[in-house]
Amino acid sequence: MSSNAPDATSTAPQTLDPVGRPMPVLPDPSPLASHGPARVIAMCNQKGGVGKTTTTINLGAALAEYGRRVLIVDFDPQGAASVGLGISAHELDLTVYNLLMERKATIHEVIRRTAFENLDVLPANIDLSAAEVQLVGEVARESVLARVLRPVLDDYDVVLVDCQPSLGLLTVNALTAAHGVLIPLECEFFALRGVALLVETIEKVRDRLNPRLQVDGIVATMYDPRTLHSREVIARVNEAFGDALLHTVIGRTVKFPDASVAAEPITTYAPTHSGAVAYRQLARELISRGDAA
Ligand SMILES: Nc1ncnc2c1ncn2[C@@H]1O[C@H](COP(=O)(O)OP(=O)(O)OP(=O)(O)O)[C@@H](O)[C@H]1O
Ligand SMILES: [Mg+2]
Repeated sequence: MSSNAPDATSTAPQTLDPVGRPMPVLPDPSPLASHGPARVIAMCNQKGGVGKTTTTINLGAALAEYGRRVLIVDFDPQGAASVGLGISAHELDLTVYNLLMERKATIHEVIRRTAFENLDVLPANIDLSAAEVQLVGEVARESVLARVLRPVLDDYDVVLVDCQPSLGLLTVNALTAAHGVLIPLECEFFALRGVALLVETIEKVRDRLNPRLQVDGIVATMYDPRTLHSREVIARVNEAFGDALLHTVIGRTVKFPDASVAAEPITTYAPTHSGAVAYRQLARELISRGDAA
């Protein structure tokens, strides 16, 4: 400590993030005086089971808790985001599929309120699996989702699109509709395998279809600080991506699958659990970076 440093009581220890970078102070965001237009964020990684849906649901719920109006677009035929928010999408007549393929359906008819304040969902079910093939023959086939979302952008502050694990036409639609991409990365060996291809796809979409598109960040998920392995993976991600790696890291805990079974975000299922705290911190980090309202 240098001789002109203030006395010891005023120098609180600097908190570090899991890769040893100084952790920024992330204050509770101010309430919004008005809503919209929404920033659209695509949750993307063609690797399966990395935490896309879990991050979509829980980041969405945390932003909604902070008074942000959030629309979750379920863009995966598995319908996990819908089901995880208590919407039995397999029983619905109208889903995002109808919006993509039929001009007469309106988005207002398809959006469902969830049981959680400020949190709506545009549901999907297995019908969406046909869209990938059927869209191929459409005019402007990459920008169908962008067109479909346009009428409600002013009603929301954030739209989160939960992508399926592929880089096919549906994901390209999500990237074309988006302002930013969040990439969940599981802290596992081979986590980085495939990320180069994802980044290449994002760059192609930016060049050809959506010049505003940016990578908002990489969210490390399923992190277990007790394993050398988890720590090595996250250190590698930090080396490779630097500032794109968000400070907030999501720990591995069985509370996430438990909350999915209960069809609730962790923020209501276990509001004080470290997993809920982590997703609230992620929401504050994105707001403080200007990536969410
Ligand atoms: N931080 C975590 N800790 C423990 N389990 C988790 C965590 N995040 C997600 N999971 C669990 O891992 C599984 C995969 O997560 P999730 O469905 O969010 O991934 P995904 O990337 O959306 O998968 P897919 O590619 O199939 O759509 C789920 O069972 C989920 O409950
Ligand atoms: Mg998913």
